[in-house]
Amino acid sequence: MTRLVAGNWKMNGSLAANRELLRSLSAVSGVEMVICAPFPYLAQLQKRPEGLALGAQDVSEFEEGAYTGEVSAAMLAEFGCSYVIVGHSERRALFGEGDALVGRKAVAVLAHGMVPVVCVGETLAEREAGEVMSVIGRQLGAVFDVLGRASMRKVVVAYEPVWAIGTGRSASVEQVAAVHGDIRAWLEANGIAGDEVRILYGGSLKPENAAALFAVPNVDGGLIGGASLIGEDFMAICRAAADAV
Ligand code: PGA
Repeated sequence: MTRLVAGNWKMNGSLAANRELLRSLSAVSGVEMVICAPFPYLAQLQKRPEGLALGAQDVSEFEEGAYTGEVSAAMLAEFGCSYVIVGHSERRALFGEGDALVGRKAVAVLAHGMVPVVCVGETLAEREAGEVMSVIGRQLGAVFDVLGRASMRKVVVAYEPVWAIGTGRSASVEQVAAVHGDIRAWLEANGIAGDEVRILYGGSLKPENAAALFAVPNVDGGLIGGASLIGEDFMAICRAAADAV
């Protein structure tokens, strides 16, 4: 599978800063690159380096109507998004998004021909309690329940341990290998073959650890926060993804 590297800009950027950042990006052959920008900048990103796909960081579960502040999947599709992050841990923790809502958002994304990047992952407390796979199984199960097997085959899964996000401390190669293996087994147990769904790793992924993490079996790419705001770093991560066997 071609690896996918998605930059999640989160709530960062400005017209001027984005212009500068985009100048330092270019397509890397052998890897799929996506920029997940804040909603207002999707317009600016209509012009972007060739070969880079566009994504959003969230979406409304609703089609259209009286939902003040929401942004629909149709709008994202109209602006050329091909990927939409759903269920990022920041949305779950800070904005109260539950598993069922994340599932409905994935449905909305697929209904408009885009790919949901479904984020899953445990908190430190859950890890210490030995609940890593029960939490992830519950998060994935909620999406599977509403999508069904055929549509689940179209998603990208992103494993992002909450304790590794924005902390500078990524999960270790051993930890990533174990969880990605378990997620793969979970998908296979639900009738989804190994080469059908990409599993990204996210959480303090940077140029220094990218090659080691991309070499882990079942790591099919990365979801990059902080390092995606530094053009040089994002490019180095994409090259590492292309070079990994
Ligand atoms: P980080 O964020 O790379 O800054 O840890 C990853 C993410 O939250 O997607």
